[in-house]
Amino acid sequence: MAKKIAVLPGDGIGPDIIAEAVKVLNKVEQIFGTSYQFQEYPVGGTAIDQTGEPLPASTLQACLESDAVLLGAVGGPKWDNLPGNKRPEAALLGLRKELGLYANLRPAVVYPSLVGASTLKEEVVSGVDLLVVRELTGGIYFGEHKRTTTESGEEKAIDVLEYTRSEIERIVRLAFELAMKRRKKVTSVDKANIIETSRLWREVVAEVQKDFPEVEVDQQYVDNCAMQLVRNPKQFDVIVTENMFGDILSDEAAMLTGSIGMLASASIGTGNNAMYEPIHGSAPDIAGKNIANPIATILSAAMMLRFSLNQIKEADAIEAAVTSVLEKGLRTGDLASPGQATLSTTEMGAAVIAELESMF
Ligand code: NAI
Ligand code: MG
Repeated sequence: MAKKIAVLPGDGIGPDIIAEAVKVLNKVEQIFGTSYQFQEYPVGGTAIDQTGEPLPASTLQACLESDAVLLGAVGGPKWDNLPGNKRPEAALLGLRKELGLYANLRPAVVYPSLVGASTLKEEVVSGVDLLVVRELTGGIYFGEHKRTTTESGEEKAIDVLEYTRSEIERIVRLAFELAMKRRKKVTSVDKANIIETSRLWREVVAEVQKDFPEVEVDQQYVDNCAMQLVRNPKQFDVIVTENMFGDILSDEAAMLTGSIGMLASASIGTGNNAMYEPIHGSAPDIAGKNIANPIATILSAAMMLRFSLNQIKEADAIEAAVTSVLEKGLRTGDLASPGQATLSTTEMGAAVIAELESMF
């Protein structure tokens, strides 16, 4: 039966990059005989223009009923002056909450052909292949936020950091399961020398670890991990951590790889409803110019096949095609060196499709 994929192109470069990912998936259908039913819905600024809401009920409903959600990006200057809960970005928080997307998986892979693209030394980043597993629906971002005054009348702000054992356990268990399919190492990151949620986090890691005797475990404090990521990133396989630490460390890890236009992500939920998207935004500065790099979105589609649809060889094929295209020296503007010829968004999509065709 055809897998139902809710497609949310969004704003700016979103529609352009999503179009290329959908074309790649059409090619996968042809080669492997899989079948996808794409249903497109408005989200973000586009949805605000059409309905007044960043996340219309019909879009949310379609996502809930789908096998997976593929999202481009939302936001842009046109909607910047709206209040927080009416902005395009509110749609992202709404989707995470409503779909129960508690885990954000952000792989940072340095492609051999792009080793010179990072600001770090080649010998430091060459061979990096790590996965940040970030808790996405708990911690300080979802705790109480308030303003009050002290007894002496001074203004005071409070943010609450809370985690339940079960919230920690499900994300830690997922990290171990993912490590089993990779190089079998988990680095758990916390601040257990200071904060109580981190002490509970360590206890849970020690318990879950017993179910995965083959997995090597390292526990690092977050400040050390931030340093290790730039000192020796090759020590990492899977990094698992709470929401805010993961937000910060995953951005840091992304920069090992060169361009933001390369990085895919998956937000995994409790059920079928996982969401896949590039980590970059709507790039208003290059929107409508057909120059955005579609690879992050194409790789997000590969993650969708791998994690939501269990179509492993199909996902492998997309990733291999991207690798070959880069090895051939084909580059969108964000990856090109000065003076090098560049491909447009549609040309890069076509190059990946041609590579897939030639592989089978
Ligand atoms: P951005 O990621 O959109 O752009 C940052 C820089 O990277 C820009 O120079 C852009 O041209 C470049 N860039 C991004 N993606 C690219 C690609 N695929 N190919 C080539 N170059 C690329 O971040 P920015 O400018 O901070 O935000 C723009 C809008 O996007 C804002 O409204 C922001 O809130 C929103 N945003 C949305 C996200 C989402 O939908 N998940 C995530 C991050 C930002
Ligand atoms: Mg962030």
